[in-house]
Amino acid sequence: MTEERMISPKLKEEEVALDVSLRPRRLADFIGQDRIKENLKIVVEAAKQRGEALDHVLLYGPPGLGKTTLAHCAANEMGVNIKVTAGPAIERAGDLAAILTNLRQGDVLFIDEVHRLGRAIEETLYPAMEDFALDIIIGKGPSARSLRLRLPRFTVIGATTRLALMTSPLRSRFGVVYRVDFYDQAAMEAVVRRSAGILGVGIDEGGVTEIARRARGTPRVANRILKRVRDYAQVRAAGRITEAVAREALALLEVDELGLDEIDRRVLSTIIEKFDGGPVGLETIAAALSEESDTIMDVVEPYLLQLGFLNRTPRGRVATRRAYEHLGIAYEEKPGQPALF
Ligand SMILES: Nc1ncnc2c1ncn2[C@@H]1O[C@H](COP(=O)(O)OP(=O)(O)OP(=O)(O)O)[C@@H](O)[C@H]1O
Ligand SMILES: [Mg+2]
Repeated sequence: MTEERMISPKLKEEEVALDVSLRPRRLADFIGQDRIKENLKIVVEAAKQRGEALDHVLLYGPPGLGKTTLAHCAANEMGVNIKVTAGPAIERAGDLAAILTNLRQGDVLFIDEVHRLGRAIEETLYPAMEDFALDIIIGKGPSARSLRLRLPRFTVIGATTRLALMTSPLRSRFGVVYRVDFYDQAAMEAVVRRSAGILGVGIDEGGVTEIARRARGTPRVANRILKRVRDYAQVRAAGRITEAVAREALALLEVDELGLDEIDRRVLSTIIEKFDGGPVGLETIAAALSEESDTIMDVVEPYLLQLGFLNRTPRGRVATRRAYEHLGIAYEEKPGQPALF
């Protein structure tokens, strides 16, 4: 099942290549997220005019919406190198020191999953981000000395799907913070058209609309669906993606009219059928489904919240009337509980 999942947060190897080949390199090619783009252009231009490094940038939001892509675009616009790492990949403060001392003036250090940096690593990062200095302890015990190394002025671009898990000292060291959001239909259509063009896929406007509509506002999902529908079109429909072909292929992939797939529907039906519509805690839902709560929280919930199918309350998750309607289950108002939607 996991292999077939259209919304899986984890990329398979072949998909990493797809991600890279379809990734816009310049802000001008980056579709949607207009406010972020506009703001980023200004800070980039201002930094370039002053001949300074770009301020540290934090990007947060659900997976597959373009955080990594934006980081690369920002480095390209600045005309600097980008070094890529991730929170869990930096195990010791020494690893970070090695990365930092290899940076050149103005370079971007992209830290993915920045909320997963270890304590000691974070503490090394604070003076590096703030004062462009690295404090190194030499020796042990009473003879230990602290040495301060100067670093070139560089830029950290951090990305996270979990802003809430970031410590506030780390968060406060980013001068620029942007939230990436789900894309609207027009932007999604532009993403599908662009990717189809790059991949050389024959597709008509009906096909574009249909794929865009079912890709849960997420470019990565659109690319993934496009690829699968292309396969279907090749084998069953002479290679051209029309609305009808897209619909058939997506039905086969169990992606419904709103882009929900099997796991989304299972989360909703579990809340409704096993827990009487909620409120029910995330861990309980995860256990009932034998899924990881992280997957549910990062990948399933944001889109269900966006659709208004789910509410987060202090006592747990609640399925809304809309969710019942979408699944075709009769909604009963509960006494003493305000109606949701
Ligand atoms: N604005 C965009 N225009 C066109 N394609 C896009 C855009 N944003 C993202 N994509 C496509 O979607 C893919 C996924 O984007 P990206 O890797 O930047 O997401 P992410 O937010 O970093 O996800 P994660 O949280 O999983 O790391 C990219 O490789 C690119 O092909
Ligand atoms: Mg990323």
